[in-house]
Order: sequence, then C-alpha cells, then structure tokens
Amino acid sequence: MDTRPFRSVLYIPGSKERALAKATGLNADAIIFDLEDAVAIDEKASARKLLTETLQSLDYGSRAKLIRINALTTEWGTADLEVIATARPEAILLPKVDTAAQVEALARLLDARPETAETRIWAMMESPLGVLNAHAIATAPRVAGFIMGTNDLAKDMGCRFRPDRLPLITALQLPLIAAKAAGILAVDGVYNAFKDDDGLRSECEQGRDLGFDGKTLIHPAQLAIANEVFAPSEAEIDLARRQIAAFDAATARGEGVAVVDGKIVENLHIVTARQILGKARAIAELTE
Ligand code: COA
Ligand code: MG
Repeated sequence: MDTRPFRSVLYIPGSKERALAKATGLNADAIIFDLEDAVAIDEKASARKLLTETLQSLDYGSRAKLIRINALTTEWGTADLEVIATARPEAILLPKVDTAAQVEALARLLDARPETAETRIWAMMESPLGVLNAHAIATAPRVAGFIMGTNDLAKDMGCRFRPDRLPLITALQLPLIAAKAAGILAVDGVYNAFKDDDGLRSECEQGRDLGFDGKTLIHPAQLAIANEVFAPSEAEIDLARRQIAAFDAATARGEGVAVVDGKIVENLHIVTARQILGKARAIAELTE
C-alpha cells in the first residue's frame, strides 16, 4: 500500500493551460490531469498535446501524478495512451470501469511497451456494475487505487443528492471494502458546490469517517479543507502517543492491556496509533 498522503486529489482539465501552470504551486497531495469528461470533444486532441508538453516542462514536485484517459472503447482512448508513454505519469486513471477484464486489457497494453512498464492503474468506481465487481477490479493487475465517481454513480443509480449521501452509501462502501481487502487506496468523489465550504467540510468528514484516504477536488479553494480534514488532528496525534507510551509501560509490566482516558488499549489500537503517527510524519515531510 502506498503510504504517501492522498488527502487532496485535484482534477485539472488537460485543456486548461492556466490551471495546469497554477497547480505546480498548489497544496494538492495528488493531481488528476484529465483528458476525459472535463475536456470537450473539440479539445481532446489539443489537450493531449498541451498535457504532454506541460508534464515534460513543469515540475509538480512530490505530488502524485495521475492522467485520466478516455475509456478504451471511445475513439480517443488509444491516442490518450500515447500521452502516458511520453509524459510518464505514475498512474493512469481508467474511467467507467465495469469489469476486471477492462483493467486487464489496459494492463496488457502497458506490458507491451517499455515506457509504461511501471505505470500503475487507478480505476474510477462510477457505475453500478463496477461497484458490484469492485473486488475483482481491486485485485486486477497493476491496480493501486480507486476513485469514486459519485456524479456518474448518482446518475446511473437514479438516486438524489442529499447532504447525508444516504442514497449512495452502499455504492460508496462496497468499493471501499474491496479496496481495504486488496490493500489499495480509495479516494472519495467530488463535492460539486465548490463555493460551499461548510458543505465540503461535512462531506470530507463523512468520507474520512467511512475510511477514505482523501477527497477528489475540482477547485483550488477546496484544498485546504480536504488537507485539514484528512490529516490526523493534534488531539489524535497526542492520544496516539499516549496510547503507545501506556501500552509500552503495560508490556514492560508483563501486561497485555493498558487504559488511556478510561478506555482500554490493546495491541490492535497500537497498530492504528502507529498508522496515525506515520501519516502525520508523512504530511510533515511534505511541507518541510
Ligand atoms: N486546478 C487548478 N487550478 C484551477 C482549477 C483546478 N481544478 N480550477 C480553477 N483553477 C484556477 C484558475 O485557473 C484560476 O487561476 P488564475 O487565477 O491563475 O486564472 C483560479 O484557479 C480561480 O479559478 P476560478 O475563476 O475561481 O474558477 P473558474 O470559474 O475559472 O472555473 C471550474 C471553475 C469548476 C469550471 C474549474 O475549477 C474546473 O474546471 N475544475 C475542474 C473540473 C474537472 O476537472 N472536472 C472533472 C472531474 S469532476
Ligand atoms: Mg465520470
């Protein structure tokens, strides 16, 4: 499993030069350079060219770089793969994944070229069939993560947007469970109302509480909230340290259980505590 933070995963349309340039200085843990739905049909070819040149000339630092291609069944998908071979992002984000066979087909194409020998695959989870096949997709070759495509999912489910996302909750959790079982990352869908900070914060908190690693974002104004919500808080870091200290002391006394703040602390809690401290360290290293 990738231990880098994926708190904030920013989509940038591959056709928007200013946005592409701006992102070299933005606080995003990862960037999705989009050739799919954020790029108009007339702009598909120019976006490919712009993105190739941009990734060869600009430095996005430690940010994880993903390129979302068009589905291989579209007329653009195969040409998009040329961008991958030249621009060398660490991963392709494959949209509209319904079956593991679609991922396997892409993996075979990547296998065939030395330039893409190391390229990982992330899968959009954005169709009812994809959600039902999530386990097979999560364990398909090269798969490193899932991105929830909540707008497409809601469309195909015929469900309504509600602040509590109850109509989508099973469709969020099935891929999440599959991702955890496979040891891959899972990033929540976008929050469309990019000027509504309170709504974004509450949806980030829900995604975090469910177990997502981060949130996909559409606008730079959303970065700070996602980065904050998906990072361990000071209180969580403090508790994790105290749990480890108390557990070490208990172990030294020959006991297997400690008590902190009136709650038992067992070995399994120490695993979580160490993960929290590891995540906090990884985030601190990003900003150093
Ligand atoms: N990534 C990087 N920079 C972005 C950005 C993004 N996703 N969205 C906007 N910016 C930049 C703009 O280029 C602008 O920079 P500038 O001040 O240097 O010109 C600045 O942020 C302010 O942008 P703003 O005017 O507030 O936004 P807008 O009205 O031009 O665009 C959206 C709003 C939603 C259309 C735009 O943010 C966008 O295209 N988002 C991505 C959509 C997407 O990728 N969808 C696919 C997945 S759902
Ligand atoms: Mg989609």
